[in-house]
Amino acid sequence: MKIQYNISLKQYNTFGIDVNAERFVEITSVLALKTLLKTEKDLFIISGGSNMLLLSDIKKLVVFLNIEGIIIQETQENDVFVTANAGENWHDFVQWCITQNYGGLENLSLIPGNVGSCPIQNIGAYGVEVKDTIHQVTAIEVATGKTRIFTNQECNFGYRNSIFKNELKDAYIITTVAFKLTKTNHVIHDGYGAIQHALKENNIFSPSIADVSKAIIAIRSSKLPDPKEIGNSGSFFKNPVVNNAVFKKIQSDYADMPFYKVNDNEIKIPAGWLIETCGFKGKRYGDTGVHQNQALVLINYGNATGKEIYDLAQKIQAFVLKTFGIRLEIEVNVVN
Ligand code: EPU
Repeated sequence: MKIQYNISLKQYNTFGIDVNAERFVEITSVLALKTLLKTEKDLFIISGGSNMLLLSDIKKLVVFLNIEGIIIQETQENDVFVTANAGENWHDFVQWCITQNYGGLENLSLIPGNVGSCPIQNIGAYGVEVKDTIHQVTAIEVATGKTRIFTNQECNFGYRNSIFKNELKDAYIITTVAFKLTKTNHVIHDGYGAIQHALKENNIFSPSIADVSKAIIAIRSSKLPDPKEIGNSGSFFKNPVVNNAVFKKIQSDYADMPFYKVNDNEIKIPAGWLIETCGFKGKRYGDTGVHQNQALVLINYGNATGKEIYDLAQKIQAFVLKTFGIRLEIEVNVVN
């Protein structure tokens, strides 16, 4: 365990923001993490770095959490319990599951980041959220160094939300996630129009989990920028949920607005549509911009600072608020 000084974090965050860590340490085992916690408490954890916007140099000790390993814990007739350590690359893990014919995560193919952060924001795409397959989460308490196991229920999962983003923010470090996946009788989630379209194009009418994964990889690659090529953090904002009255008022002016019914009183409106309607889609401002194929994604063309991206986000929020009366909530973790 070697502490390094003044390390650039550019390659450790998918936005590619070039700020420095005053002190930096790579951790590759739970034992090393527990040892570190005996003397260091003021930590900033970075793993896949896929859901953060760094505004300035980090004064805390930056811990690059790189604990790897996948274990098949137990198999039952229809299900299998698999645990993956926090530092496993998310997409590689999903592909490994598909190779084993373990179902449940295929709709979450190609999401950037590592396994350890998937419960924090309850990653989701194409009709599936990771909470649907998480059995339990193992984490180390920063204050005591003690291990705690959170059941799925204890994680308080919500839309892009969990206890790890709220009451327990920064209090625990997730080391392992246990998933309950299917071995047979997979539940295929191909209800999204885009998935059906991609499958039909390839004449697939009874898709396997591998077919669904391939379709999703094709859809995501066509719409979302690859962070290895262009800095971004996926959806920058959450899709706002409004009440019926607000929805009806906007719909009377914009009959073509897409929407999803959440329940009898609430409607979810795609933030990408709101941002596009405000004219931001594909716009570039210096080295920051709004992606040309998906307005929900803010991008770093190369040398943008976190502050410049944050300024653009605030400009978008103000415009959407003025135009629609809706305040967009930022989904990524903005780190000061
Ligand atoms: N839309 C526009 N303009 C845009 C983008 C979208 O009009 O620039 C419209 C689309 O036409 C469509 C609707 O908005 O009618 C929804 O678009 P899309 O299917 O692309 O999904 P999204 O709501 O923008 C969410 C997630 C994504 C996830 C997709 C697919 C959030 C914040 N984002 O995006 O997740 O991949 O659904 O399920 O919920 C992420 O969280 O980083 C992420 C990429």
